[in-house]
Amino acid sequence: MNTTECIRTRRSIRKFKAAPVDHSLLESLISDTSYSPSWKNSQITRFIAIEDSSILDSIVQDYTPSFNSDIIKQVPVLLAVTFVKGRSGFERDGSFSTKKGDRWQMFDVGVACQTFCLAAHNAGLGTVIMGIWDEDGITKLLKLPDDQELAALIAVGWPDVDPDVPMRKSVDELLTYL
Ligand SMILES: Cc1cc2nc3c(=O)[nH]c(=O)nc-3n(C[C@H](O)[C@H](O)[C@H](O)COP(=O)(O)O)c2cc1C
Repeated sequence: MNTTECIRTRRSIRKFKAAPVDHSLLESLISDTSYSPSWKNSQITRFIAIEDSSILDSIVQDYTPSFNSDIIKQVPVLLAVTFVKGRSGFERDGSFSTKKGDRWQMFDVGVACQTFCLAAHNAGLGTVIMGIWDEDGITKLLKLPDDQELAALIAVGWPDVDPDVPMRKSVDELLTYL
């Protein structure tokens, strides 16, 4: 699959086969993801691969709305995507480098998430990034260290559906020239 095909055919997948994802495959995708660009190459994004059924059950039952828990129930691995706080967008003395304040942190995580999802799609895996969940509950459940913050969840598994492409805006709408 070439790059353009990979970008255009990746879809958010919400129906998965009950088949495992090998650690060796997951690790090669995270290695690919490590090549993502980041603020001053700060590489703040971290991934926690949740396979433990008691942790997954708790996320499903207690910390996600049904439209997301219905997805999480199907996957062999749920990635909790976190970042190390206070580096991306910050000076060494802790002050913000730009007017955007701490928002470069989420920017870097977003870049890494898309890199991961494209690498996963290239390997035949399906993913969906999820942004709606109980942040306090999952942070506590995962015992995240104080210097990290939860940014996103990504369900990862073998797709059992080939969704249509949701509507895309036209280039005219997206691009202006000056
Ligand atoms: C930051 C972010 C948060 C998202 N949160 C959710 C979510 O909570 N649940 C869900 O099913 N999809 C979620 N999505 C997936 C979007 O709905 C999806 O990307 C969009 O509809 C376009 O479809 P496509 O990814 O197949 O191109 C999220 C995507 C992003 C980038």
